[in-house]
Amino acid sequence: MYKSKRIDNLGSAIFTEMANRKKQQIAKGKNVIDLSIGTPDLPPPSVVIQAMADALSDYNAFYYSLKGSQQLYQSIASWYQKRFSVILDTNTEILDLIGSQDGLAHLPLALIDPGDIVLVPDPGYPIYQGSVELAGGKIYPMPLMEQNSFLPDLDKIPKDIAQQAKLMIINYPSNPVAAIAGLDFFQKVVHFAKQNKIVVVHDLAYSELAFDGYKPPSFLQVTGAKDIGVEINSLSKSYNMAGARFGFMVGNRDIIQSLGTLKSNIDYGVFHVVQAGAIAALEEDGSHCADMAQIYQKRRDLLIEGFNDLGWKIEKPKASMFVWAKNPGQLTSREFAYSLLEEAGIVVIPGDAFGLMGEGYVRIALVQNDNKIKEAIKQLAQSKISF
Ligand SMILES: Cc1ncc(COP(=O)(O)O)c(C=O)c1O
Repeated sequence: MYKSKRIDNLGSAIFTEMANRKKQQIAKGKNVIDLSIGTPDLPPPSVVIQAMADALSDYNAFYYSLKGSQQLYQSIASWYQKRFSVILDTNTEILDLIGSQDGLAHLPLALIDPGDIVLVPDPGYPIYQGSVELAGGKIYPMPLMEQNSFLPDLDKIPKDIAQQAKLMIINYPSNPVAAIAGLDFFQKVVHFAKQNKIVVVHDLAYSELAFDGYKPPSFLQVTGAKDIGVEINSLSKSYNMAGARFGFMVGNRDIIQSLGTLKSNIDYGVFHVVQAGAIAALEEDGSHCADMAQIYQKRRDLLIEGFNDLGWKIEKPKASMFVWAKNPGQLTSREFAYSLLEEAGIVVIPGDAFGLMGEGYVRIALVQNDNKIKEAIKQLAQSKISF
């Protein structure tokens, strides 16, 4: 094989394995309902499609963009001010990204040196570990446990580790655990980071997918957060623009500058047509996100109430597009995920795909419509699986 050792440490083979097992079940004629990958199944707002279509007819759109337009940065700043009352300097505190993955994958390369320690949530979204591996850093996992509401216990991080750590990654509302964090937690993080001179990256990809009237806060709402940290957001989930690839990083100007320097050597910016779509999304009146949240909330209620009725007891999450559910009985996450697929035709991701602490859980993505979710409940009810 032509590949570096770095590649071996990337990604989790279980995602591919679940996809292969799904194909096998379909080949056997099974009705399979895929609740595994967090890909939105809904369309972007029509204003986004129109803005992108209009932009496409201007051949200047095909020039290298290098950097986001001033109009784009102004839209991001206005959106942040309206949504979080956080003021951003459009010249120094914003960087456009080719999806938030671009920022998450490259930030450690821009900030740490080989051997530096990075504090990473376990379980966590896979690129948090992957990006540290790529940059030659050392991962110190912060366990996310149910008894701590899936927040890391900062007091449990050994003093020498805290003092050596260069970077901490946090993510609320979170993937895969679907947990939320309040400003009190972010305040503790800022205090901890300042004490130990650690840079904080908050991944806020699910800021707009929240339920029951809950509005996730921004890490930058905490006084002093901008001194030590940045926040990364994405239009992939909030505006169903996952394939268009648009995200942005905001906050500390030095961090923004470092990532900007790295990226200027790697890519030449976001396609102008995508920038036009992003502006239209961010300037939309907010009704799209409210409608999306309603749709996901209804799916959450249908799925969890249906599964609860069968005896699978699951808490309703307040945000994100995921449900983090405990395995019944003594089965490992993988054994349970395989049996859900083979017996009930439901594809989920075993929790250990997201880190050692994910063992004992599976992640269910709310990426199918109400009818498909009802089918999943029926298939589970008719299966041999008992709770
Ligand atoms: C927590 C989290 N962050 C970031 C991303 C990456 O999103 P994108 O690169 O599409 O903005 C995802 C995608 O699933 C995610 O779940």
